[in-house]
Amino acid sequence: MRGIRTLPTGVERTFGADEIIVTKTDPRGVLTYANDVFLRLSACTEEEALGQPHNLIRHPDMPRAVFKLLWDTLGRREEIFAYVLNLALDGAHYWVFAHVTPSFDRAGKLVGYHSNRRRPDPESVLAVKQVYDRILHTERGRPTKGAAVDSGWKQLQEELDGQTYDEFVWTITNRIGR
Ligand SMILES: Cc1cc2nc3c(=O)[nH]c(=O)nc-3n(C[C@H](O)[C@H](O)[C@H](O)COP(=O)(O)O)c2cc1C
Repeated sequence: MRGIRTLPTGVERTFGADEIIVTKTDPRGVLTYANDVFLRLSACTEEEALGQPHNLIRHPDMPRAVFKLLWDTLGRREEIFAYVLNLALDGAHYWVFAHVTPSFDRAGKLVGYHSNRRRPDPESVLAVKQVYDRILHTERGRPTKGAAVDSGWKQLQEELDGQTYDEFVWTITNRIGR
């Protein structure tokens, strides 16, 4: 699989303020839908994307603790807004402001997840990156994946300093342009 060994090239890719990157997954996070904007930004074809786990575009500079928060939140049947750095299959990277929601059938059974992503402001990315980099730093010093998640999670709480991640995200997002 091409994506697994992709090394970041350091090339940043961006997209239009009027564009939305959309994907849908099954309950395990396997891609079932990807729009053209996703395919363009991620430098992959629909055939390469569908049927793959969403970590296809995971960037090594994304803290594990943020994905724990994402899955914990979705596991409570709640939606989440999050800043995410993604790695395209050609090694370029792009930042998104994602809104990920669980989808339910009429009986209330989880049928999958849906993510809509907009282009973040560069100032928001700078603020988030500082926090993520400190979390990454603690995670990278740990010998196992489990220990990395634990230390990253503690660092995330320290960074939030009593705020929820949701409050933090909206503080950063709303202060732009004022
Ligand atoms: C609807 C949905 C969208 C997701 N979008 C992304 C994404 O854009 N980038 C990403 O790295 N992970 C995304 N994830 C999380 C991945 O499933 C995965 O947890 C993450 O890439 C970390 O991978 P790892 O556990 O293998 O380290 C998404 C998950 C869901 C359910």
